[in-house]
Amino acid sequence: MKADGVIQVLNPATGECIASVPDLCREAITLAFDDAAAALPEWRARTVEDRCAIVGRLGDLLRRDAGRLATIMTREQGKPLAEARGEVAYAAGFFDVAAHEAPPLLTRPLRTSLLPGGKELRVLAQATGATACITPWNFPIAMIARKLAPALATGCTQVIKPDERTPLCALALAALAEEAGVPAGVARTVTCEPSRFAAVAFSHPAVRFVSFTGSTEVGRLLIAHSAQRVVRLGLELGGLAPFIVLEDADVDAAVAQCAASKFRNAGQTCICANRILVHDRLHDSFVERLAARASSLRVGRGLSPGTEVGPLIDDDGMAKAERQVADALSRGARLVTGGHRVHVEGCLDRFLAPTVLADVPTTALCFREETFGPIAPVARFRLEDEAIAIANAAPYGLAAYVCTRDTSRADRLARELEAGIVGINDGTPSSPLAPFGGVKPSGWGREGGPEGLLEYCDLRMVSIGGAPPIGGAA
Ligand code: SIN
Repeated sequence: MKADGVIQVLNPATGECIASVPDLCREAITLAFDDAAAALPEWRARTVEDRCAIVGRLGDLLRRDAGRLATIMTREQGKPLAEARGEVAYAAGFFDVAAHEAPPLLTRPLRTSLLPGGKELRVLAQATGATACITPWNFPIAMIARKLAPALATGCTQVIKPDERTPLCALALAALAEEAGVPAGVARTVTCEPSRFAAVAFSHPAVRFVSFTGSTEVGRLLIAHSAQRVVRLGLELGGLAPFIVLEDADVDAAVAQCAASKFRNAGQTCICANRILVHDRLHDSFVERLAARASSLRVGRGLSPGTEVGPLIDDDGMAKAERQVADALSRGARLVTGGHRVHVEGCLDRFLAPTVLADVPTTALCFREETFGPIAPVARFRLEDEAIAIANAAPYGLAAYVCTRDTSRADRLARELEAGIVGINDGTPSSPLAPFGGVKPSGWGREGGPEGLLEYCDLRMVSIGGAPPIGGAA
């Protein structure tokens, strides 16, 4: 077997190396898939109640160790400690939901139809088999939980490949899975360079499903990989969420929701408000209040008490955010607050002041490409149809937001906006109970809720013949 290399795990705030993990070679990754294949028959043959007891226990262990896990997360990912704790609770919720939803899904037919003549059609859900997942750095525990929980509960096995920047959360979760009673081989975490992992995952004969959260660009590469063996994919890809504030909205509430959506995780979420569209009548007061909120946010190291906005993940993230600000300004946008780096003692230059840009033309980069930084670009509109047209013009459809007091307008926009997730007066709609996912190049499939469990199942149609018609079979 070839020797494994090493991946250094760096604290994004300081650049300090906090650990190293193996950069596994192809043969070692293949062994993990062999283990997942070998462990499958026994795991799938267990009762769903037995598996779900283990899955539920894993959620409890996450809650038990929330403080420790949050500290690991903040050190390797940078987000403020309070947000990291929130993410651990969010992750635990996926195990709770899977443990609750899997038994009815797997023990009863999804549907039965009785046909004239006595024939019966049954639709059954069955575990797909060995699976793989590739997860991002922005939610280093929750994005694994969202994939691992339904895999385990339905009776699948899974090989997990966390982002190279945040493997420590994944390894901590793997240790808790073992403590919860997940048998060796059923869930294997491997640390390695992503293209090597993908090459093995898509060529291993046992792998039936690969779930990925990350960029649309990488999603396209995985689609190409998957073609060879026709491996099913679950893809949660990029977003460019419109955040529409209609003229009847409660401005203070809209500002609070927009700030929560935009500035959590320093703007590094796939569903955060990326194109803020505010009715002309509210534009100025909205911008003024959003800027006041943005400039009040405390920027600092995630581990420092009271921090609300941490560092960006790396220098490329900072360069991209700064490029977007410069581009918007060069096209006539107005800088209302932020737009500059914040010096944090003992840290790298990766802290961007929460930024609000007003009168941003929709041709600006920040309206065309995902930002992944704490930048809130605001544009004005006059007619609802104009806002919908701008929102739907994007080649993405993950999340969209509407602020309004009018419930019938809310209902209409919830249907008209091309997005898998719509928040009405709600900037943080994610929940382990609900299906998360996009339309258009934002992805395929759903994660969370009972729908997320179905992704790990194959549907089987069973047709049970009735009594032959009177006079004998034809
Ligand atoms: C993401 O950014 O991919 C996930 C965000 C969430 O679950 O809220």
